Amino acid sequence: MEIIDGKAISQQIKAELKAAVQFRKSEGKKIPHLAAVLVGTDSASMTYVQNKVKACEEIGFESTLIRYDDSVPEDILLAKVESLNQDRSIDGFIVQLPLPKHIDELKVTQAIDPLKDIDGFHPRNLGNMVVHLPGFLPATPAGILELIRRKNIPTEGKNCVIIGRSNIVGMPLSIMLSGNSNPGNCTVTLAHSKTTNLPEICRQADIIIAAAGQPGFVTYDMVKAGAVVIDVGTTRIEDPKAPKGWRLAGDVDFENVAPKCSMITPVPGGVGPMTIASLMMNTLKAMELKGK
Ligand code: GUN
Repeated sequence: MEIIDGKAISQQIKAELKAAVQFRKSEGKKIPHLAAVLVGTDSASMTYVQNKVKACEEIGFESTLIRYDDSVPEDILLAKVESLNQDRSIDGFIVQLPLPKHIDELKVTQAIDPLKDIDGFHPRNLGNMVVHLPGFLPATPAGILELIRRKNIPTEGKNCVIIGRSNIVGMPLSIMLSGNSNPGNCTVTLAHSKTTNLPEICRQADIIIAAAGQPGFVTYDMVKAGAVVIDVGTTRIEDPKAPKGWRLAGDVDFENVAPKCSMITPVPGGVGPMTIASLMMNTLKAMELKGK
């Protein structure tokens, strides 16, 4: 059994990006510039955005953080999106989700210029992905694919069960892994809250990708011996012994499942750092696509 070190792989990717930035600098070319919009003070969202800004600093990208209060009206946020679309110094930007209830997330996502949509959430980028046209792939699924690629995990002809059908993880991942590509060519089952017989279905899986947002959801009895298990869950659960009073819990009962697997990703230190690495890769791509 191997615990996949997503942090180490992401550091390798960041080192490659740093070298690319230095090369661009030496040629007098523009340095990638990422902007992040954060609404409110949700602690998890603040941490995610801080980590994205920190990754920019490590690589040598420029970054701009734009913050709004929870009560920001939708039209003010949409106006900011439009000004970032127009701002030639910004190569790509994200609006951290979730947004407060009075703001329509889909409307905001659709307002982002698809050429600056480094999260790959815009319907145009999702559509391009479906028909294999160039565009931005959503960061978490792209990070998982990169991890599969770099660990040489075979996918062709394999049964892959994805648990969770969200627009930002499960749904795009099911399309990417079932496509005629490498990694890809899996027989994908996209399981969700209405799926019956999930343990039975999971036991057929060569690869399980858990993105349900439910701590410890994947248990020992659901996993075939030798399976690859990728855990996308990041739920904060109270833990008085932890320095911050909480710890991150994945969707997999790691302690019991890990010994049964051929490979497994931990939480933290598995998929999370890969999401940030692929967001950085998309930022460089955004700039290169425009021939800057
Ligand atoms: N919220 C949870 N994951 C993500 C992500 O990858 N991008 C954005 N913008 N918001 C998120």
